[in-house]
Amino acid sequence: MKRDINVFDYANEIVKAIGKGVLLNTCADGRFNTMTIGWGSLGIEWNKPVFTVYVRESRFTTQLLRKNKAFTISVPMGEYDRTVLGQAGSLTGWKIDKAKDLAITLEEPAANGVPGIREFPLTIECRVIYKKEQPIKEIGIEGIEQRMYPQDEPDPYAGRNNSPHTEYIGEIVAAYIIED
Ligand SMILES: Cc1cc2nc3c(=O)[nH]c(=O)nc-3n(C[C@H](O)[C@H](O)[C@H](O)COP(=O)(O)O)c2cc1C
Repeated sequence: MKRDINVFDYANEIVKAIGKGVLLNTCADGRFNTMTIGWGSLGIEWNKPVFTVYVRESRFTTQLLRKNKAFTISVPMGEYDRTVLGQAGSLTGWKIDKAKDLAITLEEPAANGVPGIREFPLTIECRVIYKKEQPIKEIGIEGIEQRMYPQDEPDPYAGRNNSPHTEYIGEIVAAYIIED
């Protein structure tokens, strides 16, 4: 069962959870994927409730977002299995099917076509309404290029761990807690 929520009533829990890791789910062409994210923002733009994610070009997630402009965020509540966050944040959909290989159960989506995850019950379904690459040169933090976009370090998946992040602003089209 899905219990609808006003997402801003849970802003405190959601924003604190982002720092520890939440799941970013995508799907396209019948293929589901999930990856751990530690960056994200809950807010308002164009008078709409939005959730923004920041995804490196090299992720398999990027490939799916290109094909289907929607994503679902799954946030843990109470006790949860941190191994799932570790695996979703180190293994890649380029090589494995995380829907099969991780201890997760998919939940039918309500509005955007991208499943949630029962074990991470606070669910935020989004549809991408804006997308923009963040040029590394425009980031106003000293030393950021060497620290986060080192040009001499190969990416384990796509040959580039130096790939920039793209921000995807998702309009929140449904928010609920999955309950039994
Ligand atoms: C705690 C944690 C937070 C992470 N946050 C992000 C993030 O915000 N953006 C990003 O692009 N990658 C992030 N990653 C890395 C991806 O989760 C990781 O590269 C993942 O394997 C990508 O999966 P995919 O290739 O199947 O999309 C994070 C990893 C961990 C462990």
